[in-house]
Amino acid sequence: MSGLLIRHAHLIDLSAGIDQIGDVRLEGERISELGTSLSVQGDRLLDADGLCLAPGLVDMHVHLRDPGLTHKEDIESGCEAAAAGGVTSVAAMPNTLPSADSPETIRYILEKASRAKARVLPVAAVTKGLAGKELTDFEALKQAGAVAFSDDGNPVATSYLMSETMKRAAKLQMPVLAHCEDRALTRDGLIHEGEISQKLGVPGVPAAAEDVGTAREIALSLSLGVPVHICHVSTAVSVDMIRAAKKMGAQVTAETCPHYFVLTHEKLLSRDADYRMSPPLRPEKDRRAILEGLRDGTIDAIATDHAPHTAEEKAVFEKAPNGVVGLETSLAAGITFLVENGIMSLPELLYRMSAIPAKILRVPCGALREGGRSDLVLFDPQKSWAVDPAHFHGKSRNSAMKGLQLRGCVQYTFCRGNLVYRR
Ligand code: DOR
Ligand code: ZN
Repeated sequence: MSGLLIRHAHLIDLSAGIDQIGDVRLEGERISELGTSLSVQGDRLLDADGLCLAPGLVDMHVHLRDPGLTHKEDIESGCEAAAAGGVTSVAAMPNTLPSADSPETIRYILEKASRAKARVLPVAAVTKGLAGKELTDFEALKQAGAVAFSDDGNPVATSYLMSETMKRAAKLQMPVLAHCEDRALTRDGLIHEGEISQKLGVPGVPAAAEDVGTAREIALSLSLGVPVHICHVSTAVSVDMIRAAKKMGAQVTAETCPHYFVLTHEKLLSRDADYRMSPPLRPEKDRRAILEGLRDGTIDAIATDHAPHTAEEKAVFEKAPNGVVGLETSLAAGITFLVENGIMSLPELLYRMSAIPAKILRVPCGALREGGRSDLVLFDPQKSWAVDPAHFHGKSRNSAMKGLQLRGCVQYTFCRGNLVYRR
């Protein structure tokens, strides 16, 4: 059988110890051969000419807005954005309309995703309607194809419900993705509570709102002896608590998002709602702690919290919903702010954006190996480009990276062996 032969690529996969020039043969959904100077067997040829070839990225925190909020994004457009960002698998958060709290909605997502340019890993709601009251049917949701549980957007309301969630999910060997926030502290806060919120005269969210949530999940995980994954870590105190928890042997994993290691709350002085998300941008000392957490491995993974909203919704600073898009800029943000700044090597970055999230979600991707999935990204690590949301492939333009000059440019993305993006 002939396939596609990608030649002269810089193959990178930290888990397999691969960091060398080589060739890869794709046959259908699988990598059939990997090596140097592979023979041409009637394959189509792609000369990578030294571009980096890595496992397609796995973004474990994405809002696809489908069903119900498809004016912001839908499964098709969100997966196009993913493909353009080199992302071949996305974990889709359940805060849709209806929320992903039933097997029917999980099946709807998977059915629609079967025609999309990336793989969709549905995350099921912890509570019915994300209302924080009644737990969903975890077994049935797993059966339907959900890969994880979360009430993201909302924290799981009570410690009791979260402890039940962690126990039930652990029995099913499914991860719980925790949005850590004590809403009683957030109140009507819009941005990080501090110098900038005071200057602007807008209500602030204390860092403690996140930290109290992080502390709760760690305490529950430790006392129950079950895993928990902490979403979008943004504060220095949370990084320290996660570091300490890991030292105590807690089965805690964590992710952060590019905006927390690229930007600080000074950006909000512009009163531009494209810099508003939850948790909010923080001061420089928190950004530095996030970098240190990434450097020493306290923070395991990088995800985007891709959260599309329309320009109309984002138009008024105080009224706009929280969230920023991120699928099309995450790799370049990582290369520019982590690799170029010496926080981690390029193979390490790719690992934190593919193999590690795949492992946390227990899905078989994120590796360059014979027999493995033919989900790949080919990118130029040197090429510099300016972020212009007008060129995005997703439906929404609410990027906090707009105007930045970033290094690292996706040239080709393959998913299930198909070319899904070409620059
Ligand atoms: O900024 C955010 N936007 N944070 C969340 O937790 C939810 C998300 C959304 O759904 O828009
Ligand atoms: Zn969240």
